[in-house]
Amino acid sequence: MFKNIRDDFPQLQQKVRSSKFIYLDSAATTLIPKSVAKRIYDYQIGEVSNIHRGAHYFSNLGTQNYEDVRSNWAKWLDAKAEEVIFTKGTTEGFNLIASGLEDFDFGERNEFICSPMDHHSSLVPLQRLAQKRKFTIKFVELNSVGEIDQGSYQKLLSKKTALVSLPWVSNSLGTTQPIQQMFTEAKKMGALCLLDGAQALSLFRPDVQKLGCDFLCFSGHKVWGPFGVGVLYGRQDLLEQLPPYQSGGSMIEDVSFQSSNYLKAPHKFEAGTPNISGVLGLGAALAFMETLDFEHVRAHEKKLTELLVSKLEAIGGFEIYSRSDTCYNLCSFNLQDVHASDLGQLLDQMGCAVRTGHHCTQVLMKTLKINGTIRASMSVYNNEDDIEGLFESLKKAKDLLI
Ligand SMILES: Cc1ncc(COP(=O)(O)O)c(C=O)c1O
Repeated sequence: MFKNIRDDFPQLQQKVRSSKFIYLDSAATTLIPKSVAKRIYDYQIGEVSNIHRGAHYFSNLGTQNYEDVRSNWAKWLDAKAEEVIFTKGTTEGFNLIASGLEDFDFGERNEFICSPMDHHSSLVPLQRLAQKRKFTIKFVELNSVGEIDQGSYQKLLSKKTALVSLPWVSNSLGTTQPIQQMFTEAKKMGALCLLDGAQALSLFRPDVQKLGCDFLCFSGHKVWGPFGVGVLYGRQDLLEQLPPYQSGGSMIEDVSFQSSNYLKAPHKFEAGTPNISGVLGLGAALAFMETLDFEHVRAHEKKLTELLVSKLEAIGGFEIYSRSDTCYNLCSFNLQDVHASDLGQLLDQMGCAVRTGHHCTQVLMKTLKINGTIRASMSVYNNEDDIEGLFESLKKAKDLLI
């Protein structure tokens, strides 16, 4: 356990329906530490100003602070500041890429490789792109513990592969994929590599150079930051080839009567007034992340996940989908033929916050031939008491439902 870390997250001290509040829904959104809330508050009450092109003190200060957050995230990712674009989140990042690739020169290539566990936020924009371009999406197979079957991936990769798009960590199963190795192979075939980092950045410090990704998307609210802000990393030469996603103010160099010239990336992709307070909050989230030892984070959360799995196994009746060694912070399961949402509602009555349903991965649910799962997901502020509490509630719910 991280010493006193729960003090940083006051929401955890609340009661829900007179029970201790047990938050096990961090894969949906992580709680934010006080430092992140304070950064947003400080800006909103004492520093508000629109940024870029300002002629006064607070505008210049805001511009400096906003661009500093970009540089700090660039350092964290091992990227250049020009390669870091602020978005609304992972979903917007993938939509930006997919719309940008509508006229991209893929030569003779006409296949995308995705996985059944891709989140709708990456899969659906790529489906729309594939339909427009008349490309085919090929899906890798999963092995018995919900990891990508590397043999099936090898078979799909070919000179026809235009791009490979994968989630680093599955939000439904919790499995982690060997991205560096998979992207190395994709690169050998000349394919573009897109990485959904939404669930991974609270577990790993990414190095986009080593990972070999051309694009990486993630959301602030899954890395202890605010809602409505995220990052798209894109390789500089590729970003220069993509057209703007949205157009308007802040992305132009010169506007004439019939046409305009655009700024270079990243500003080319940040039309309009940006989410300034969100970006500053995302900067504070990074400062919080810099205090964490990610090896320790993974070990801590894995211990909790393993504890939950062993308890579920001991009481019996649960189908567990997160059995891979590569699951760190998430356990997906079902209780016999009980509908996941019925169990979720009972847990809520007892103060436990989990998520139920398809988790925006319907292709995965179709592959597993289930409607959904119950997902308990952990973060740095969870402890063994939370797992004990969930387990006691699950035992009561099982007695009531079966
Ligand atoms: C793996 C994964 N990708 C993408 C997303 C979409 O993130 P957002 O809704 O913040 O755009 C999520 C959110 O649940 C996710 O878990």
